[in-house]
Amino acid sequence: MIITDYQFSDRVSGLQPSLIREFFKYNGLPGYMPFSAGNPSAETFPVKAIEEIAADIFKNHPVTALQYGITEGYTPLRETLKKFSRDRYGIGAENDELIITSGSQQIMYLSTKVLVNEGDTVLVENPSFVGSLNAFRSFGAKLVGVPMESDGVDVAALEQAMKTEKNIRFFYTIPNFQNPSGATMSWEKRKAVYALAKQYGVLIIEDNPYGELRVAGEDIPPIKSLDEDGLVIYAGSFSKVLAPGIRIGYCVAPKPIVAKITVGKQVSDVHTPVFSQMLVDEWMKRYSIEEHIASLRSVYRHKLDLMCDLVEEKLSRFVTYTRPEGGLFVWCRLNDHIPMQEFCTKAVANKVTIVPGSAFLPNDTDTTQCFRMNFSTPTDDQIRQGMDILADLAAQY
Ligand SMILES: Cc1ncc(COP(=O)(O)O)c(C=O)c1O
Repeated sequence: MIITDYQFSDRVSGLQPSLIREFFKYNGLPGYMPFSAGNPSAETFPVKAIEEIAADIFKNHPVTALQYGITEGYTPLRETLKKFSRDRYGIGAENDELIITSGSQQIMYLSTKVLVNEGDTVLVENPSFVGSLNAFRSFGAKLVGVPMESDGVDVAALEQAMKTEKNIRFFYTIPNFQNPSGATMSWEKRKAVYALAKQYGVLIIEDNPYGELRVAGEDIPPIKSLDEDGLVIYAGSFSKVLAPGIRIGYCVAPKPIVAKITVGKQVSDVHTPVFSQMLVDEWMKRYSIEEHIASLRSVYRHKLDLMCDLVEEKLSRFVTYTRPEGGLFVWCRLNDHIPMQEFCTKAVANKVTIVPGSAFLPNDTDTTQCFRMNFSTPTDDQIRQGMDILADLAAQY
């Protein structure tokens, strides 16, 4: 007899699979416009360089690549990344340490594991990245959403939440080209958010997977660059800069927090695959990451402009939106007379896989009229076709 009614823990029984992962099944199907994924453009992967480096690693250092490694990460890569994050972002204070993780997703997971007890509060931007929200939920955190504005989180609402909520463990923010809203937090707001964190004694998790993908405007330093007080856990990732399949993230945080994360990682995956870490380290040594970032920016600038120009040309009667300055997503708010869920369902039925904004809400009681579109995965033709289909659908209301 096959058992079907397994008993799952309270921690995970309420968790729903990410809607975006569900949409993945459509992405390769013929005729579908893949607007749902957060995948980087495959044309940006430096395949030849990686092929050569991989061959050299197995020729010259096979045992290092295949043996167990240390939990904090492959030492040469840690040194490379300490320098990179200091030079590029001005982060890494005396009191900080760096640990390599299996993607930056693991930083949200491990930080929650070491900081959050069941029922503790985590402040999040509303909307926010579902992978992180689910990581917080999986440890029984109470999520309190703080509204987003076009230049980042609503600082007055954040202060109100910090004043009134009990047992706040941290505030989670994605300051650059936020997923899903595309908004970038201004420098003034970064300073204000840091000042509030200091005033109310709240830690910040600053998640920055998209920071390098700026296509317009000026780079803004991370909140972590202000961190003289040991308040910020910074999450960096090579998923969008190099390739997500190699699963390399890195966390710069106060030493005592990294020490606990290290213990948490030991009982999770022991360490991030050494081979992936060697690949990234060698790639950083042989090539100029700044040149690579410049080439990524030109690919994404073209795609972002194409999608946004079409939103303005074809959808402006039906939606409002703020043109993002980078990242991978365009976030549109449908006019009130168009029912968002129904519109998204119809779009998918017509083979345009837009994601309903409800997938990114911290709580079931929150509502939204928004949907998210990705521009890095579809071809230019698919972007054009998809926007035509969406405009036809919206005109039916
Ligand atoms: C905001 C945000 N944080 C973290 C991640 C996880 O990235 P990774 O684990 O591939 O570094 C993603 C992935 O899309 C994301 O959008």
